[in-house]
Amino acid sequence: MTEQSAKFTLGSDSSDMAVMSGTIGPDVVDVTSLYKNTGLFTFDPGFSSTASCESKITYIDGDEGILLHRGYSIDELAEKGDYLETCYLLLYGELPTAREKQDFVYRVTRHTMVHEQMNRFFTGFRRDAHPMAVMVGCVGALSAFYHDSTDIADPHQRMVASLRMIAKMPTIAAMAYKYHIGQPFVYPRNDLAYAENFLHMCFAVPCEPYRINPVLAKAMDRIFTLHADHEQNASTSTVRLAGSSGANPFACIAAGIACLWGPAHGGANEAALNMLMEIGTKDRIPEFIGRAKDKNDPFRLMGFGHRVYKNYDPRAKIMQQTCHEVLDELGIKDDPLLEVAMELERIALTDPYFVEKKLYPNVDFYSGITLKALGFPTTMFTVLFAVARTVGWIAQWKEMIEDPKQRIGRPRQLYTGAPQRGYLPVDERS
Ligand code: SDX
Repeated sequence: MTEQSAKFTLGSDSSDMAVMSGTIGPDVVDVTSLYKNTGLFTFDPGFSSTASCESKITYIDGDEGILLHRGYSIDELAEKGDYLETCYLLLYGELPTAREKQDFVYRVTRHTMVHEQMNRFFTGFRRDAHPMAVMVGCVGALSAFYHDSTDIADPHQRMVASLRMIAKMPTIAAMAYKYHIGQPFVYPRNDLAYAENFLHMCFAVPCEPYRINPVLAKAMDRIFTLHADHEQNASTSTVRLAGSSGANPFACIAAGIACLWGPAHGGANEAALNMLMEIGTKDRIPEFIGRAKDKNDPFRLMGFGHRVYKNYDPRAKIMQQTCHEVLDELGIKDDPLLEVAMELERIALTDPYFVEKKLYPNVDFYSGITLKALGFPTTMFTVLFAVARTVGWIAQWKEMIEDPKQRIGRPRQLYTGAPQRGYLPVDERS
């Protein structure tokens, strides 16, 4: 990593700071010693200009609309690879050989069952509980079952915990869905591929055989790949911060699920579909575009905009193609939601407000239409995002734990509250 230096000067004081270059992307100014040398903090509440860590996993170029996982473009991984191969790449840093892939798939497949006692967790929830609430609870509880993979200092246990998370998330997600709709749980099957197994656990019923549709299974697998990892987004940063205290990986992933739930983040796919359903018809689009521009209206076009992408989200393009493939396979013609979505996109991409603010559709814009067509209720959309993102969270967590420079994350603040003042007895307060 090449180094230059930057000089910070304030009045008569100055401090030299190293400027570090990565492989690609912006250089960074190392401000680690700024407070020690100057008594000053940096101030960046949304972390728009802050690199929180060094990482080798994912690179995003927001201006060019590029997303790379270990150097491979999301377009190639989504088109030519599959989700478990992408999981291996994110975890180990290289694409697997045929032998390595076969072994990895074998190991993940044989971790897909959950402890039978986990079934009892679900009965404690109301049937109408949001599946994301169930996921936060059940995934956090995994650490109560798998004590043999919570010692984060042991590389073997870290890898076992990683495999368990990747393998068991679909099973827990499917159980959350089945509980939500009052149907019996369906056990995973070792003869099915990852996405096939997930669709089977969600949609099979004991009364009749469930036929896997290969086109829909491929679409599901590709959706998982598109959502696998995305640099230091809010939920990944949550997992890293939780992990920096030494918390066990299951608890860290539960924290990531909780953060992903927000409508500004992973909850946007559910919110985007609800917005399309609220708009209903193309003639109502101008009303909602006007609301999105109105500073006094908190409404935002869900599925549009991104902190990093100031060009088209490369995942959104692939998501749109996948959406058309699924609708075609299911014979869904002229889906009114898709018509509204495509018209909304066309208008937004020509409207000066959105053009100036560089607000393009993101990965969540078309995913909702696709997931609804696959048969999932909107309340399951963010759960599917969490299933897919688990490998990204766990890969980033592992990288942080294995970084010899790793310390507990502990940001400071700009304090604007009351200066010290004396306590007044209650009868002297006015
Ligand atoms: C994901 O970080 C990641 O990588 C996340 C993710 C991942 O894979 O992990 O990519 C997944 O979370 C995608 C984003 C999903 N969220 C949504 O679709 C919700 C709608 N989008 C917005 O809430 C917003 O665009 C964010 C949260 C995505 C980004 O917010 P920023 O970067 O903080 O941008 P901002 O809120 O400062 O907005 C900049 C301007 C503002 O106007 P001004 O104050 O400058 O006048 O753009 C406006 C905003 O009002 N704006 C929007 C808008 N998004 C931003 N106006 C209308 N509709 C929108 N969607």
